[in-house]
Amino acid sequence: MKQYNYPTTILYGEGALLESAKRIKALNLKHPLLVTDKTLVKVGIAEQVIKVFANEGITCAVYDGVHPNPIEDDVDAGAKIYRAEKCDSVIALGGGSPMDAAKVIMLAVTHEGPLSKYDDAIGGDKYITNPLPPLFAIPTTAGTGSEVGRAGVIVMRATNDKTIFFHPTMLPKIAILEPALTVGLPAAVTAATGIDAFTHCLEAYFSPGFHPMADGIAFEGMRLVLKNLPVAVKDGKNLEARGEMLVAASMGAAAFQKGLGMIHSLAHPLSSECGLHHGLANALMLPKSVEFLENSKLNQDQKERLARVQSLFAEKGLAKANLSTSCFEFFKSLGVQFGLRNHGVREDQINKLADKAIKDGCHQTNMIPVTRDQLKAVLQAGF
Ligand SMILES: [Fe+2]
Repeated sequence: MKQYNYPTTILYGEGALLESAKRIKALNLKHPLLVTDKTLVKVGIAEQVIKVFANEGITCAVYDGVHPNPIEDDVDAGAKIYRAEKCDSVIALGGGSPMDAAKVIMLAVTHEGPLSKYDDAIGGDKYITNPLPPLFAIPTTAGTGSEVGRAGVIVMRATNDKTIFFHPTMLPKIAILEPALTVGLPAAVTAATGIDAFTHCLEAYFSPGFHPMADGIAFEGMRLVLKNLPVAVKDGKNLEARGEMLVAASMGAAAFQKGLGMIHSLAHPLSSECGLHHGLANALMLPKSVEFLENSKLNQDQKERLARVQSLFAEKGLAKANLSTSCFEFFKSLGVQFGLRNHGVREDQINKLADKAIKDGCHQTNMIPVTRDQLKAVLQAGF
């Protein structure tokens, strides 16, 4: 078990969960609210975690109702339990959804409603002034990296829109990367979530902002994905590959404070309109988006960035004629079935998808500016 801070304290490796329980106990916290979902209860992971904490004298109250895209009701229900149980901290267990919900539950239990007041898009972060309870995050997928992030996304009742809540104090105190908790993930979910992590790194690395530290993290994150994701997909019980994928996912999230790009803008409406898994949506959109970049007029630095990512594929013997083809073949080898139509997307949806993609903020930090028609063309090529 190892520890590093960047800036979150990260406990990594076999024993991280037990060590986190000891640290939470040392902070004199006794009754956290465990925020999770029904699947993790069903497969027994929630129980396993609760036991480790109970052995250290920490008794968890549980809210396990978080939806795959967390809704405002989830926040209300979790906050109600937190208050009724007089909890003193929050533990988020799961993929991105329980982590997002947990962050906003902390906000709800310490701030006056309505929740919509704190919407980041309208500058609501300035009202987040009260101290939040300490949050500890235990990812069970290696993709979103939300355990090192300070934002939570909730679908609001009034608007049905995904609304972002953001504040530095929403950052987990400790991220607990325990590889054993991810071994049960099916191969397809392992591939999709891992590709999400890869996409975070790639888009951050390609993003034009000046952030040399994020660049370094993103580049190493991609190297780790190329090395470990094929192993984790093929042999889900390989703890080393599972562990390094958790690390890569947290690196992707640390890096994308620099910005994301057009791939995420294209992927978001594919999830909200067509119900595609976020990682799968990225997988389907990434090669054609990279091809769009390859066919665009790029400056020297941008060309070098594409070449350097291609060199990572070459290192692993995975390089094809160009980066877009390397990515396409790599994802295919992980079991991704290409073609939007194979995933229930209809061609008559393309205009709506393009409209939503251009409204999405992620492409603002794309390597080069992109228009609605260009996004539409990438979608079209993805069928
Ligand atoms: Fe993502």
